[in-house]
Amino acid sequence: MKKQKNLIYKCSSCGREEPKWLGRCPECGEWNSLVESAARNEISAQGRIPGRHGKGRGDSGPVTLPLAAVDPMEGSRIGSGIGELDRVLGGGIMKRSSILIGGEPGIGKSTLLLQIAAAAQTKGRVLYVSGEESAGQLRLRADRLGLNTDKSIMERIEILCSGCLEEIESVLNNIKPVLILIDSAQTLYSENASMNANPAPGGINQMKFCTFELIAWAKEHDAAVFLAAHVTKEGVISGPKTLEHMVDTVLYFEQNDKASGLNGTIDCRFLRASKNRFGSIDEIGIFTMGEKGLSPVEDTGRMFLIRREGELPPGVAIAAVLEGSRTILVEIQALTIPAKGTISRVFSDKIDSGRVSRISAALEKHLSLQNKPDLRLSDQDLYVNAAGGIRITEVGVELAIACALYSARTGRALPADLVIAGELSLTGEIRPVHRLSNRIKTAANLGFKKFLGPVPEQPIQGLHSAANIKNAIKLIYE
Ligand code: TYD
Ligand code: MG
Repeated sequence: MKKQKNLIYKCSSCGREEPKWLGRCPECGEWNSLVESAARNEISAQGRIPGRHGKGRGDSGPVTLPLAAVDPMEGSRIGSGIGELDRVLGGGIMKRSSILIGGEPGIGKSTLLLQIAAAAQTKGRVLYVSGEESAGQLRLRADRLGLNTDKSIMERIEILCSGCLEEIESVLNNIKPVLILIDSAQTLYSENASMNANPAPGGINQMKFCTFELIAWAKEHDAAVFLAAHVTKEGVISGPKTLEHMVDTVLYFEQNDKASGLNGTIDCRFLRASKNRFGSIDEIGIFTMGEKGLSPVEDTGRMFLIRREGELPPGVAIAAVLEGSRTILVEIQALTIPAKGTISRVFSDKIDSGRVSRISAALEKHLSLQNKPDLRLSDQDLYVNAAGGIRITEVGVELAIACALYSARTGRALPADLVIAGELSLTGEIRPVHRLSNRIKTAANLGFKKFLGPVPEQPIQGLHSAANIKNAIKLIYE
């Protein structure tokens, strides 16, 4: 009998290849998902690709490389042409990498992908694969973004309206793009993966399988791939979540609640990395959506302050917080009202409510407010908000929260020219924060005359420092 040499078994869910049939895929744990398929030539330009792309079995067995001989992939980044995106990615799009962009419908994923297609600093070809919109719709969007004024951009972007993996792969092999934009992962399906997996596009197995194939293609051909993925309002992200481990970078696009800000109603969209193999996950990209698509907001210093004339109302404190490498000033608003129930509650969306409870407990304890029925916090419902709807996780915001709560409870406004930064410990001490002088400088540049913060190692001009919350409150009000 003729021996079939080039036969392997491939998981229709995750794409793993095995030399013999197994009942359960060792990669993704799926049952009965291995199907017979022909082995392909697996040696790429970068050597053997680990995992499913063969174990590097040559005649002489697997080959290793001394670390010193490995290409550090320097200069492997392509500028995306969008500063805020480069910031989040850690300095540009890494070649051979895969980036997932998750977000609710309407947040601007497709717009961002098209803007990347237009702005990416590469001379190579760009493939935009749309399984959701027709070519005409894409053209309309491109015109709206003003891309039609640049002929070279309009010519280098190739459009494919399909979700079929086999069609996409055939186009990839024909035009060899350096940048691939998939809109969206949920519309991908494969004719080959339908044997055991759910054949409907959007099925999790289909999506995983197709994504795996596209990532592998990009790695083998020195390209980068972006995949948009929808996330529903309730945060049910079972779809995109299952792709997170496959890709190098996961970015989530989220929107503020259009809070009223300095410029009237600000419509901010934040791009955050939740996983990044090639950069930090601290940086956020800030955009506004306008007539001509997404515009990066680079000057964020005042973005989260509310324009006010004269005095601040009680309950408002201005915090200088770090968002990645930049300092932003944010108006923290607090409100205290007698608890409606038997236990007091904290209402705070943008700042962790556990943190607000801890700060209010420390404040009450170290200013002995529990003995003063008019000032007690523990019988109050506490509401805390950050203007502009930005989510704040940085510890430097804690002292400002404490001051805002105190101001709200006492009805005594804080000075309008005061900016605050500091971490508050349970012992009531104000702990040092990173890049204090940078925060002070940002506040001074924006016209704020006073800065309240922790005691620095060396004196800093313009800083009023306090070692603990009691002294801080004294310093403000006496
Ligand atoms: P879209 O990018 O289609 O979002 P997603 O792909 O995440 O579902 O578009 C988001 C919204 O942005 C849509 O409601 C229309 C709006 N928009 C603008 O306001 N200005 C523009 O220039 C464009 C292209 C879209
Ligand atoms: Mg879309």
